[in-house]
Amino acid sequence: MTEKLRVLIGREEIAGKVAELAAQISQDYRDSNPLLLGVLKGSFIFLSDLVRALTIPVEIDFVRLASYGAGTETSGKVRVVHGLRRSIRGRHVIVVEDITDTGLTIQHLTGYLKRRHPASVKLCALFDKPQRRRVPVSIDYLGFTLPDAFVVGYGLDFNEKFRHLPELYVLEQEA
Ligand code: PRP
Repeated sequence: MTEKLRVLIGREEIAGKVAELAAQISQDYRDSNPLLLGVLKGSFIFLSDLVRALTIPVEIDFVRLASYGAGTETSGKVRVVHGLRRSIRGRHVIVVEDITDTGLTIQHLTGYLKRRHPASVKLCALFDKPQRRRVPVSIDYLGFTLPDAFVVGYGLDFNEKFRHLPELYVLEQEA
């Protein structure tokens, strides 16, 4: 099998959408010093571009979640692998995800965060695959809605490959 990459969303289109999301967040949180919480690993490129496009002060932290099992399908059981080290009580939190797929990661993370009494929790996701949803998720700041194809690049991987690529690609396997 060889892996073939086809560009789905180019870097200028991504940059334009990141700027739009940053402008909206800067407007909505202009007086509240929000905490942007990146979900590792996939969000690291999106988060770093997003924060540099903001015009307001923010704080940044990361969590890492994993679903049990291997392969491309989630097992449905999510756990927090690397959690918060500081209190979020009374803070306005914006979770930053690269992609929302089944919704299980964000559902689990939202419960984890709410038990720590933040002032609010919103979700910013650059990509969304609504056809794959298994639990309802409300995305407050959304970049692109995608078809149900396997995508890589701009932080997203296949077996840890392709995260570094600056565009979003569809990964096609050829015999
Ligand atoms: C991906 C992605 C999201 C999550 C979304 O992470 O970064 O965090 O899956 O999927 P869901 O909506 O079906 O839960 P992944 O578990 O692949 O880890 P990674 O970011 O370290 O690659």
